[in-house]
Amino acid sequence: MPESQRSTIIIAGGAGYIASHLVLALTKHTDFRDYNLVVMDNLLSGHKQSIPKGVTLENADLKYEEQIDTVFSKYKDIKAVFVSSQNHAHRQ
Ligand SMILES: NC(=O)c1ccc[n+]([C@@H]2O[C@H](COP(=O)([O-])OP(=O)(O)OC[C@H]3O[C@@H](n4cnc5c(N)ncnc54)[C@H](O)[C@@H]3O)[C@@H](O)[C@H]2O)c1
Repeated sequence: MPESQRSTIIIAGGAGYIASHLVLALTKHTDFRDYNLVVMDNLLSGHKQSIPKGVTLENADLKYEEQIDTVFSKYKDIKAVFVSSQNHAHRQ
């Protein structure tokens, strides 16, 4: 399916320890083959290298609504957003 027609799943914190396992599982599962998988992460403690090939990294900070809006506006038909980031985030 052409990328422009695909639905999107966003995994916030997807470059981190816990959610990178979810991202990897999604890339391997045939049910998710036709989805754009997008990691939304500010790389505070996550690593680019944890993101599998074919998954898009959007460097955005969940503390800022406008950064979330920017990412959301880039993708059509967002089916799910998973969040697994820091449990002690403070607005700077
Ligand atoms: N690691 C564990 O064993 C464990 C167990 C139970 C619960 N948890 C919870 O799961 C969550 C994730 O834990 P983890 O070990 O994967 O942590 P992690 O630090 O490896 O991953 C967190 C990810 O979120 C990103 N992030 C942090 N703040 C962000 C922000 N403001 N905007 C965008 N991205 C941001 C980081 O860059 C990183 O990629 C935490 O809430 C933690 O308390 C972890």
